[in-house]
Amino acid sequence: MNPSLAKFMLARTPKSILHPTPTMNTELKLNTGNSIPALGLGTWQSAPGEVKKAVVHAIEAGYRHIDCAYCYQNEDEVGEALQDVISRGIVKREDLFITSKLWCTFHTRVEEGLQKSLDLLKLDYLDLYLMHWPVPMNPNGNHPLFPKLADGSRDIDHSTNHTETWKRLEKLVQTSSPKVKAIGVANYSVKYLEKLLAKADVVPAVNQIENHPYLPQQEVVDFCKEKGIHITAYSPLGSTGSPLFKEEGVQEVGKNHGVSAATVLLSYHLARNSSVLAKSVTSSRIDENRKLIALDDSDMEKLEGIHTTKGLTRFVYPPFGVNAGFPDKPDGVDLSG
Ligand SMILES: NC(=O)c1ccc[n+]([C@@H]2O[C@H](COP(=O)([O-])OP(=O)(O)OC[C@H]3O[C@@H](n4cnc5c(N)ncnc54)[C@H](OP(=O)(O)O)[C@@H]3O)[C@@H](O)[C@H]2O)c1
Repeated sequence: MNPSLAKFMLARTPKSILHPTPTMNTELKLNTGNSIPALGLGTWQSAPGEVKKAVVHAIEAGYRHIDCAYCYQNEDEVGEALQDVISRGIVKREDLFITSKLWCTFHTRVEEGLQKSLDLLKLDYLDLYLMHWPVPMNPNGNHPLFPKLADGSRDIDHSTNHTETWKRLEKLVQTSSPKVKAIGVANYSVKYLEKLLAKADVVPAVNQIENHPYLPQQEVVDFCKEKGIHITAYSPLGSTGSPLFKEEGVQEVGKNHGVSAATVLLSYHLARNSSVLAKSVTSSRIDENRKLIALDDSDMEKLEGIHTTKGLTRFVYPPFGVNAGFPDKPDGVDLSG
């Protein structure tokens, strides 16, 4: 098309078409052909006794995407919530998108890890199963989830590595009646992804990473985009007690649009074509977090600029003890796999 005609048409295209308003259930395509709903309810640190109510409330309020993990030790209650809403006809199983994650002490027991989550969640399939961290831990150590050596350091399983774990995960989708619709990873840097892709027959559908204006992880986001790996952002609000809500740039964008800081922080990911997980056990916040807006280039410039003056902040640390270099060089972990 003639460039000046294209410019003319672009100038007259309504803003609502150029930047359509995303909704919590905007479908984002995965490389499997299926889609993931834009907003998911997080369940990490949602205490037993609170999480069932939160999940029921969220689904009644329209959430269709729930992020779970075996390691959160609350999948049993999440399962009760799912059973409740499905049995009451609030939602059909096939209209939900349920994610769980393989914990580090299960890297050599992938099928067992999956079955444990399915049993707890009372489901016969997952929409997405992620390797929670690319570091195997001793399955026979002094703790079933967080084993330690006598010197207090994390008990890492050096007999295997994350690329071997990925090959085991691939088998879950390479059967005639798979119990997972997609497999993916979490907490992967570019370096780890390169190692995994060199051995992979199945490209991960998702890389779930900590992501917010204090930690844009642009290199990982760009790499994943190039490889067709969808990004899901975790801790978008900065997890518990977050300073992000008060951050000047976030406040300013919120003021310009007449929306809360939470809406800005969640919408940031939609503008990056990522899905986003927001955890809350508070009904009013679960409701508030449903609101997403289309942010434009100038909003994004403000948000993308925050880390350049404030520096990078990570709110979630890997469960491998003191590991300043993670995820690029976790102590004692064999990266040659
Ligand atoms: N793959 C991984 O390794 C990994 C790691 C971390 C997280 N995740 C996933 O990502 C999810 C989200 O991350 P996250 O739990 O770390 O943190 P988050 O969603 O960024 O923040 C949760 C915190 O913000 C509060 N909150 C929620 N909505 C709010 C609002 N509208 N206004 C004010 N405060 C609000 C919550 O309080 P209340 O609950 O008290 O309302 C909670 O303290 C997790 O739950 C988990 O599912 C995955």
